[in-house]
Amino acid sequence: MNVLRLCVIVILSGISVAAQLNSTCDSNDSMALKHFMNGMDTAIDGWTSRSSNCCDWDGITCDYSGKVIKLELSRKRLVGTLADSLASLYQLRTLNLSRNLLKGTIATSIFHLAYLEILDLSSNEFSGSFPSSVNLPSIQLLDVSDNNLEGPIAPGLCINSTGIKELKLGVNYFAGEIPPEFENCSSLEHLCLDANLVSGIIPEYLFRLPKLFRLSLQDNNVIGQLQNTNPSNLLYFDISLNLISGILPDFFHTFPNLTYFAAHSNNLFGTIPPSLSNSGSISSLILRNNSLIGFIDLNCSAMINLTFLDLADNKFLGTIPDNLPACPKLKMIDLGGNNLTGQIPETFNKFESLSYLSLSMCNLNNLTGSLNTLQHCPNLNTLVLSGSFNNEEISSDSNLIFKSLKTLVIPNCKLTGKIPDWLNGLTNLRILDLSWNQLIGPIPSFLGNLSSLVYLDLSNNFLDGKIPKTLTLLPGLQSRNISFEVSLDFPIFMRRAMNGKLLYYSYGIRFPPTLDLSNNFLTGEIWPEFGNLINLHILNLKYNELSGKIPENLANLSSIETMDLSHNDLCGEIPVSLVKLGMLSKFSVAYNNLTGIIPSGGQFSTFSSTSFEGNPGLCGEFVLNCREVEDLLQKPEFEEEVESMIGLPVLTGFGTGFVFTVVLLVVVPRIRDTKRTDKFE
Ligand SMILES: *[C@@H]1O[C@H](CO)[C@@H](O)[C@H](O)[C@H]1NC(C)=O
Ligand SMILES: *[C@@H]1O[C@H](CO)[C@@H](O)[C@H](O)[C@H]1NC(C)=O
Ligand SMILES: *[C@@H]1O[C@H](CO)[C@@H](O)[C@H](O)[C@H]1NC(C)=O
Ligand SMILES: *[C@@H]1O[C@H](CO)[C@@H](O)[C@H](O)[C@H]1NC(C)=O
Ligand SMILES: *[C@@H]1O[C@H](CO)[C@@H](O)[C@H](O)[C@H]1NC(C)=O
Ligand SMILES: *[C@@H]1O[C@H](CO)[C@@H](O)[C@H](O)[C@H]1NC(C)=O
Ligand SMILES: *[C@@H]1O[C@H](CO)[C@@H](O)[C@H](O)[C@H]1NC(C)=O
Ligand SMILES: *[C@@H]1O[C@H](CO)[C@@H](O)[C@H](O)[C@H]1NC(C)=O
Ligand SMILES: *[C@@H]1O[C@H](CO)[C@@H](O)[C@H](O)[C@H]1NC(C)=O
Ligand SMILES: *[C@@H]1O[C@H](CO)[C@@H](O)[C@H](O)[C@H]1NC(C)=O
Ligand SMILES: *[C@@H]1O[C@H](CO)[C@@H](O)[C@H](O)[C@H]1NC(C)=O
Ligand SMILES: *[C@@H]1O[C@H](CO)[C@@H](O)[C@H](O)[C@H]1NC(C)=O
Repeated sequence: MNVLRLCVIVILSGISVAAQLNSTCDSNDSMALKHFMNGMDTAIDGWTSRSSNCCDWDGITCDYSGKVIKLELSRKRLVGTLADSLASLYQLRTLNLSRNLLKGTIATSIFHLAYLEILDLSSNEFSGSFPSSVNLPSIQLLDVSDNNLEGPIAPGLCINSTGIKELKLGVNYFAGEIPPEFENCSSLEHLCLDANLVSGIIPEYLFRLPKLFRLSLQDNNVIGQLQNTNPSNLLYFDISLNLISGILPDFFHTFPNLTYFAAHSNNLFGTIPPSLSNSGSISSLILRNNSLIGFIDLNCSAMINLTFLDLADNKFLGTIPDNLPACPKLKMIDLGGNNLTGQIPETFNKFESLSYLSLSMCNLNNLTGSLNTLQHCPNLNTLVLSGSFNNEEISSDSNLIFKSLKTLVIPNCKLTGKIPDWLNGLTNLRILDLSWNQLIGPIPSFLGNLSSLVYLDLSNNFLDGKIPKTLTLLPGLQSRNISFEVSLDFPIFMRRAMNGKLLYYSYGIRFPPTLDLSNNFLTGEIWPEFGNLINLHILNLKYNELSGKIPENLANLSSIETMDLSHNDLCGEIPVSLVKLGMLSKFSVAYNNLTGIIPSGGQFSTFSSTSFEGNPGLCGEFVLNCREVEDLLQKPEFEEEVESMIGLPVLTGFGTGFVFTVVLLVVVPRIRDTKRTDKFE
């Protein structure tokens, strides 16, 4: 029926568009728009210059009589304030000014337009509070999200606007409780208050609103316990990042249609209640970062729609449930950070639907057995197993095959042995992280054949030998056509960043194209061909035993943001051409045996002395006065002289900041313990 109504609307609006083509703009509306335009600090492209008839202007739609019915100016970089005059466009049905730089308070008169159906002022910089008097009798969608609005949530909103369906107030500073008057929002289908300062409890009447199917209260200060007794229509319910406490109630039978339930990062405790572990409707269940206990006991015969299960960072115990493969649609599982033991159950070898498995920071054992099991999951593309398997040897069984695997992350496990040959068969691999283990031997050259690899972290192992030249051929790092960043297939959550604007983050970190081979015992030279890796963003080779010169070709790494070559035995000069690396924001060649003049200009003017220290033969702005070095170079017996010079600049020309950083770098040794915070938790 809805589809039918939509078609009718589309047809009707099509007719009105055809009929209004040649209408002449109403003079009052023309005046109102000119006032609006004058309130802008920026010109509005496609206005006035083209025609004096405002019905011809960009983003304006008129009806047959020349009345403006739509004003749609999204993403036009409009800067300025919203003139009251807009309210005299009294026939307006759509006002969409989203994604501009509009500021000031929103003129209250806008909230009294009799025909307005859609009001979208999202992603601007409006401030002040929401008007206390609102009379939008035709409104269906009101979106003021992602502004700097404050004050209470307008209580009377639904009194005059009885037909409102979507109310989006997210990412502002609205404070206080959800007003009791919302009890009468009987048409409301979608309420979003994410990332505000909402306090108080979740009033039970919200669950009774007859049409409400989507309720999102993420990232507020909501307290109290969850409760509901009457059947609710909710399909989507998100209360993550609040202060909700108490036992996770056995009330899921009151939400017969709930498909998405997220309550991560609250203070929920208790076990998984039977109404949840038998829910046929739930598709995504996200209870991460609470204090839930007991065994993970799901009835997969009942949970026929479960697709994404995130129970990480709770206090669950026991083994990994061996019945999970019986949940027919289960694709993504994160059970990390619980007190689980044992190995990955052998039943997982028939886990057809599984594509994502994260079991970090569990006390798992038997990596070899676990991998043998998981290789039979035909769709497994992400496997994250950080911080388990203490001191086991990495499986060297050359028969292991993971055809679909795109992400393999097994760091912080103290794994021993060599980098195994079976990795050679992971032809779809994009992300490989085996850092912070105790792997020995050389880096195998076949890694360079993995045509999709864009993120390789082998740092903090005991690897030795030369860097295989094949790594300079990695296709994923040679071509910019390969997607700029890969990320784990996680749902994205929204939070406010420090500057008040949107910050999107996923559970995992993002993975910029990276080669991290730092903290090993690698020898030999840095291949000039590394310069071919134009898609590389991070090159970290610090703390190895690399020798030779810094190749001039590294200046071709046009995407590079971080380049750390410190703590090696590199000699020669810093190639001047590196100055042209415009994205380079972190750079270090400290503690090598470099000589000559530190290049200046470009990004080099932003680096500090810590990037260059520990190279007695380097001179330039920070380290040594070049004239002194030249003088020294002219003396035949300069070697001893240089030696006595080393400590000098620290004592003379530089402030305590410099001394401090030097001390820090000297004191912090080559770290080899595994106490780093686990990024894949
Ligand atoms: C509108 O004006 C155009 C030319 O400007 C003309 O071709 C068209 O027939 C007019 N349409 C109506 C409905 O009058
Ligand atoms: C314009 O506004 C004035 C004053 O509100 C009104 O008298 C006049 O009828 C309006 N003109 C049109 C064309 O609507
Ligand atoms: C407003 O315009 C933007 C850009 O055209 C569009 O993405 C958005 O959906 C519009 N808002 C509404 C409520 O239709
Ligand atoms: C409802 O509309 C009337 C008339 O515009 C207005 O006076 C009143 O303040 C509105 N009520 C609310 C709660 O906004
Ligand atoms: C909801 O509407 C009813 C009927 O109009 C009214 O009696 C009641 O007071 C309203 N509830 C609130 C909380 O305003
Ligand atoms: C659940 O959805 C079905 C079908 O969409 C609908 O008929 C039913 O009323 C809904 N249940 C509740 C409690 O809203
Ligand atoms: C976990 O939840 C607590 C509040 O219960 C919150 O302070 C913390 O930031 C959350 N941690 C993460 C990683 O989201
Ligand atoms: C499972 O999902 C399907 C498709 O979304 C839906 O039609 C069905 O009603 C759901 N099953 C239950 C028991 O909710
Ligand atoms: C599991 O779900 C099935 C199907 O809904 C049901 O018949 C069975 O009784 C449930 N088992 C338990 C232990 O609840
Ligand atoms: C983890 O579980 C084991 C038994 O399974 C128990 O002995 C241990 O105390 C638990 N550890 C924590 C931190 O709860
Ligand atoms: C490891 O797992 C495999 C396969 O599940 C099993 O055959 C083997 O006995 C296990 N080894 C240990 C030491 O538990
Ligand atoms: C530094 O390089 C010079 C030659 O450029 C060499 O004589 C000296 O031994 C090197 N120093 C170290 C510590 O490697």
